[in-house]
This record gives sequence, C-alpha cells and structure tokens, in this order.
Amino acid sequence: MFLTGWVNVRRDLGNLIFLDVRDHTGVTQVVCNREVSLEAHDRAEEVRSEFVVGVEGEVVLRSEDTVNSQLPTGEVEVMARKLLALNEAKTPPFPIEDGTRTSEETRLRYRYLDLRRGRMQRNLRLRHHANEVVRRHMSENGFLEIETPFMTRSTPEGARDYLVPSRLHHGHFYALPQSPQLFKQILMIANFDRYFQIVRCFRDEDLRADRQPEFTQIDIEMAFPQRDVLFDIIERLMEKLFALVNVKVERPFARLSYDTVMERYGSDKPNLGVDLAWERMSLPADVVEKVRVAQPIKALRIPGWSDASRSQLDKLQDTARTLGADWFSYLKVGAAELQSPLTKPIGEQAVKSLAASLEAQAGDLILLLGLKSTKPDRAAFHQLDEASGEIRLEVARRRNLLKTGTWNFLWVVDFPMFEYDDKEKRFAAMHHPFTSPREQDLDKLEIDPAAVKARAYDLVLNGSEIGGGSIRIHRQDIQRRVFSVLGLTEEKARERFGFFLDALEYGTPPHGGIALGYDRIIALMAGESNIREVIAFPKTASAIDLMCEAPASVDPDQLEELGLQIKKQHPGS
Ligand code: AMO
Repeated sequence: MFLTGWVNVRRDLGNLIFLDVRDHTGVTQVVCNREVSLEAHDRAEEVRSEFVVGVEGEVVLRSEDTVNSQLPTGEVEVMARKLLALNEAKTPPFPIEDGTRTSEETRLRYRYLDLRRGRMQRNLRLRHHANEVVRRHMSENGFLEIETPFMTRSTPEGARDYLVPSRLHHGHFYALPQSPQLFKQILMIANFDRYFQIVRCFRDEDLRADRQPEFTQIDIEMAFPQRDVLFDIIERLMEKLFALVNVKVERPFARLSYDTVMERYGSDKPNLGVDLAWERMSLPADVVEKVRVAQPIKALRIPGWSDASRSQLDKLQDTARTLGADWFSYLKVGAAELQSPLTKPIGEQAVKSLAASLEAQAGDLILLLGLKSTKPDRAAFHQLDEASGEIRLEVARRRNLLKTGTWNFLWVVDFPMFEYDDKEKRFAAMHHPFTSPREQDLDKLEIDPAAVKARAYDLVLNGSEIGGGSIRIHRQDIQRRVFSVLGLTEEKARERFGFFLDALEYGTPPHGGIALGYDRIIALMAGESNIREVIAFPKTASAIDLMCEAPASVDPDQLEELGLQIKKQHPGS
C-alpha cells in the first residue's frame, strides 16, 4: 500500500523507527525496520514532525502487546519498504493535536496548522456534509439555489455596512449585503416561488462568540407561504442535520409567543434546558401600599434552595439592580417556618398568603423582582423582564440546573413589530421594515405602534437564536404606513430602496421566509461554544484576520485611483 501524510510523531528506538503518519482519515503507525529496509530506516532518521512523507509498505497486524486501542487504526501498522520525504517542515509553533493549549491568537495566525488538528478536520468535514444535506433537502422541497450579488446597495438589517468604493464612479460605494433580504423578495416577485441560498452576509457590528463580521446564512423565501408549511420544512431540515451527529430531534418544535417567553424566561431566546420560569403576579393593594412596588411584579420558584446564603442573595440583588430591576425580595420556605424581609413591612400573615398564592413548597426559595418607580413605562417593564432573564440564568449556573445533552428547539412567534429607540426618540423595526404586521393589529399601526405584533418568528436552540424570519408585507399601502411609523419619509424610503418599492408595484405575491444562522447551527452540532471553531478562516473579536493580516493599508496609488484620501486622525483612535 502507499500512504501519504504528515509525520505526527517520530520515535527512534535504534533499529526501529516509528512514524505516526497523519492524513485526513487519522493517524497510522509506520514502522521503519533496519532489517526490513535499510533505505527506509535511513530516511526515517532524517524526517521530523510535520514533514510530508510517502510510505510504501505492507499493512500488518500489530502484535497483541502493541495494539493501541485509542486509535481507529491501532490494530495495524505499515511495515515500510520505501519512505519518501516529500517535503520538510519548520518546527510548528504548537503541537498538532486535539487538546492543544495554544492561545487562540497563535492558532489563528497559523490557521493552516490549526486546521490540521483532528478537531478542526472533523468540524469542517461536518460542515461539508451539512451543506450536502441542506442542498438535498431544499431541492427535494422544490427550492432553487439562486445567487444574489455581494456588491450591492445597503440592506436594512440594522448593523453598519461594509462599503466597497467604486473606481469608475468616484464617491460612490457598493455595500456588502447584511443579508439578501430584498433580493430574495424580488425573486418572489420574479416568479421563483421557492428560493434558498447558502450565503455569506456581512455586518459591521460588535462581535461576540456567536457573531462574525462575515457569516453564513441558509437563506430561504417562498411565495404564497403558509407559516406551518415553512416551519415543517425547517423542522425536517433540522432533523436531518442533527442526524449527522446522531441527535434525534423531536418534532414538531415548541411554539411560544414573544410575550410568554419574556414573562417566563426574560429572554426572546430562552434556554428551555433550564427548568425555571418566572410568573407575573399582582400583590394585594394593602401590601403594595406598604412595600411601594409597581404592579405586576415577577416571582421565580427555585425548588431546594431555601438555604441560599445572604451573600448569594445579595449577589442576585446586585445583578437585578444593575440591570434595572430595583425592587428585590425573597421568601425562604423552610419545613417549619417562612423567612422573608417582607415579614417586617407586611406582616407574617401576608407573607404566608403570598407563599400560598405562589404554591410554595417546603425547601423552595422564591425570588421576587419588581420596579420601585410609581409609574413605570413599557421600557422599564421590558428591563425588568430582561433582568429576570439574567437572574434565571445566574441561578441556573449557581445551582447547576442546565440540563446537558438535551436539544430544546423553540419557535418564538408574535414578536412586536416595533421597538422604541430611546436615543433616537423613534420607533425602529424589531426585525426589518418589510415584516408584515398581524392582520388583527393593522388598525393600531398609527395609534399604538408598540402594541402591534408582527408575523415574525425566530428559531431558538438551547438559548441560541439560530434563525429569524417573517411573512412579508406585499401590499404597498401597508408598506407605506409602516415606513411612516418608522419615520421614513416617502423620499427617504425611495432613496434607500426605491428599486424594491418599484418592484412591489408589479404584482407581488404574498411571500415570507427565514434565514438560519448556519455557523451557529454547525457549532451547536459540533459541540463548540464559539462559531470560530466551525469557520475555516474566521476573524478575531476585533474583526482581524490574523493569518493574512486583514484589514491592511493599501497602496497610495490605489487610493488615488479610487479618489479616496485617508484622514490622519481616526475619530475612534
Ligand atoms: P437575522 O438578522 O435575524 O435575519 O439573521 C438570521 C440569523 O443569522 C444569524 N446571524 C449571525 N450569525 C453569525 N454572526 C453574525 N454577525 C450574525 N448575525 C445574524 C442568526 C440570525 O438568527 N433577512 C433576515 C431573515 C429573514 O427575514 O428572512 C435576517 O437576516 O442566527
């Protein structure tokens, strides 16, 4: 047989030299025995780690005492007859092995070496197989993969654009798409009734473990959509994808409204692997008078934590306060007695009936969270919800309540259409301005925009938002009204996406779709907590490609050609 690969490890025992040769299938032990082939043995003396070699020889069974049960190829070895050193290698800056402790910076700087490691090989192979599954599934369901441009106009997804200056048109810029949103809608107008694309999107936004400046979506759109049909297509896709990692996905996925998840979990991407849920409750009027807290408050029952310490509770209170929930209390439900800071202001009896109304059980700790201000607005209650969400996760971490090995898919539906931007003092679209309001909320559009719900949905898995989409507006009159709520004048809207508004006027079918965050999905499948581990050449948290050192300055001639001049002092530097 002929084997090619890189020398993983070399062990010299005198007459015998062992080479562990790594190729994409794994590591195979090669034996260079002086008595079998003097030539191969001599060569083996010269090779070092990461040299590229070719080996000609026989596959033989290892003797029982040398079988390596850690390796898939551990029962055999190759007895070398001929060894070719095809190329040398410098000593790598870190060992090429799965559990390397090297800093991420070094790994990214030498990504080609990092990618040789088994873990990265597995992740990128998984990604390839996932691509195959996606393409097959979408094609089987009648979706066509159609490419949309990267050099385009700004798309309204809420982040900053990456801009590309035009040489032929000085002062004009292409924008890299934040998503193909408008193009896919136009494809619906153009009678491609089912479209998908595995597509790169570009967003200049703050980066985190689950965000990259360029990332990949499985972008999907269909004409004459029924939400249930779309959900079913996506759920079956998830079932097939997760089968690649031997995970059985339960269908249909849970569906909860935005209002429900915010009440119970204080997050629009809740992790249902934590079995804790808040409840909104109103206190009796006489109690409210004594403790001065706005109604409703929120309560969380934590079984088995009635012995929480003072400092643990203080820490939770600190978290709550920092996040804008300034009223905090608790009930400790012991076997015989009930302990609460509320006993003093409201009396033992009122505390008892509070515990009873919360169906408290012996051993429970019940956290109570609220707002002190007399007339909190919607934004304050939203903050209260978000604070409750953080507290829920903090309790889960402290109590080790996160179930592992469970796959909690969830559709969050009925999102608000708008959110109020306090800084800008105006409403912004929660998804994007082409999302359709619910039919029954249309009459509230101008009177009470905050109460309008959208036909939008997110797909959430174990606390991670892995997709988002909506049924779109296909009527110009509604589109105009939505723009007007957003404070977009007809003129401004035309300036930004006039081409799209024109297209809408030529017979637009009802349509809707979704985009799945592909990097996040693959990371979850691969058991990675950072999407960088499933992207071949990712950027750092400050958007740098350490390997090729991008971004970089360019030649003055290039700038000249583009008609650009760089200011000396960057305002942010
Ligand atoms: P949205 O902006 O919600 O929707 O994006 C869809 C999904 O893409 C993933 N995602 C990201 N992944 C990695 N890095 C990022 N910077 C990043 N930003 C988003 C998330 C998210 O759920 N055009 C609409 C979709 C539609 O309405 O059909 C859109 O792009 O998992």
